[in-house]
Amino acid sequence: MFTFSETDHVFSSRRCVWVNGPVIVGAGPSGLAVAAGLKENGVPYVILERADCIASLWQKRTYDRLKLHLPKKFCQLPKFPFPDHYPEYPNRKQFINYLESYAKNFDINPHFNECVQSAKYDEPCGLWRVKTVKNGSEIEYICQWLVVATGENAERVVPEIDGLKEFKGEVIHACDYKSGENYRGKNVLVVGCGNSGMEVSLDLCNHNANPSMVVRSSIHVLPREVFGKSTFELAMMMLKWLPLWLVDKMMLVFAWMVLGNTENYGLKRPVIGPLALKNSQGKTPVLDIGALERIRSGEIRVVPGVKRLSSCGVVEFVDGEKMDVDAVVLATGYKSNVPYWLQESEFFCKNGFPKAPFGNGWKGNGGLYAIGFSRKGLAGASAEAVKISQDIAKVWKDDLKKKKQKVPTHRRCISTF
Ligand SMILES: Cc1cc2nc3c(=O)[nH]c(=O)nc-3n(C[C@H](O)[C@H](O)[C@H](O)COP(=O)(O)OP(=O)(O)OC[C@H]3O[C@@H](n4cnc5c(N)ncnc54)[C@H](O)[C@@H]3O)c2cc1C
Ligand SMILES: NC(=O)c1ccc[n+]([C@@H]2O[C@H](COP(=O)([O-])OP(=O)(O)OC[C@H]3O[C@@H](n4cnc5c(N)ncnc54)[C@H](OP(=O)(O)O)[C@@H]3O)[C@@H](O)[C@H]2O)c1
Repeated sequence: MFTFSETDHVFSSRRCVWVNGPVIVGAGPSGLAVAAGLKENGVPYVILERADCIASLWQKRTYDRLKLHLPKKFCQLPKFPFPDHYPEYPNRKQFINYLESYAKNFDINPHFNECVQSAKYDEPCGLWRVKTVKNGSEIEYICQWLVVATGENAERVVPEIDGLKEFKGEVIHACDYKSGENYRGKNVLVVGCGNSGMEVSLDLCNHNANPSMVVRSSIHVLPREVFGKSTFELAMMMLKWLPLWLVDKMMLVFAWMVLGNTENYGLKRPVIGPLALKNSQGKTPVLDIGALERIRSGEIRVVPGVKRLSSCGVVEFVDGEKMDVDAVVLATGYKSNVPYWLQESEFFCKNGFPKAPFGNGWKGNGGLYAIGFSRKGLAGASAEAVKISQDIAKVWKDDLKKKKQKVPTHRRCISTF
């Protein structure tokens, strides 16, 4: 077991830092899980995080009422189970506490407030050059491996809606929504009907606001549990024995038994089944935790796509109906930010996701790795973390044996900067 401290494995100059191991970009659950795996294997690393804390998505960009929507056993990171006293669906605070303990347990100390601006593979040297900015000055990290862990939800998606910029009421994205407390008695237009749109609408109801939720296309709503068992868990069990199309059909029968016909409430179902849709288009089904009941009772209005907003607070829908609104919450989803900083086009697509089909895009060429882009949530990230850390550890240990016998060529290469 190696006992490198950070100063041992980082060779610094004024603007160049040699990292004797991988650079991990992002200290969310994915980045933390890879760091823990590397630590277990004695591989030194540097983890760079743009925010001032770990798991910034969970700490800064989620609402108060958020709970994990899958049972805890599917959300824990490798080699560190949730505490026994945690409920089946831990809330946001519990999950953050768990991640803090995880970082402490594996002695993970990210470099905070360092946003990666660019990363490029230096072909002649066979090394990655990763540039960050901290307090206005640039730092360049040079390393053999680059682990991209910036997440599927790195940046908000803000749609082009006619009149949105001129609208005088409050407009926020769901990532800035905390609770319905400030919206009591107000008419709130929630644009989007994914898990965020549904839960924000439910929260607004609970705070006596009047939410109208925009549903412009179709959506699969499934109960979070069927017969007291997690729907997700049930689907995973059935997939071991049955083909996906059949599991999809059974999911829809269960949904119909528990929730009734959601089309009666304006929620048209996609033609493709929920699992097939997730696998082919990455579109997550909504796991209902009470919003449907409020739609049924009329407390959440389902409205069609928005045609335009007026500055005086009137929204016009595509069917010509009009309505007064005081505030707008854009629950319109998120996107990857990889194309903004990673100068690479072989492994990643233009949309910032790996080109390989879901689940297979964890390893590229030249020491490039990606984690948390398989649209399989925390369970997917955990599995990838194990593969990535073991893969790097194997090469690192072999390299170490060789380096003991001769001066490393990489050091010679960067000393010319
Ligand atoms: C509201 C919400 C609820 C969710 N609930 C669940 C759930 O219950 N179960 C589940 O499995 N999944 C859930 N997810 C999906 C979620 O994406 C994962 O749970 C998890 O956060 C993914 O971890 P990650 O580390 O891959 O990405 P993130 O948690 O997004 O972490 C990425 C980190 O990278 C940092 N970063 C980004 N760009 C840079 C840069 N250029 N330089 C340096 N740092 C950078 C970010 O600041 C962030 O800290 C939810 C997502 C949202 C939005
Ligand atoms: N409790 C939880 O665990 C929890 C809670 C919230 C979110 N999440 C997770 O977080 C991730 C993101 O979820 P999300 O709900 O924020 O995003 P999402 O699943 O991408 O949903 C975005 C929604 O916005 C709609 N939309 C986008 N642009 C629009 C426009 N111009 N007009 C009208 N509608 C528009 C989309 O409709 P179209 O389908 O028509 O494009 C879709 O309904 C998912 O993985 C989700 O499971 C989990």
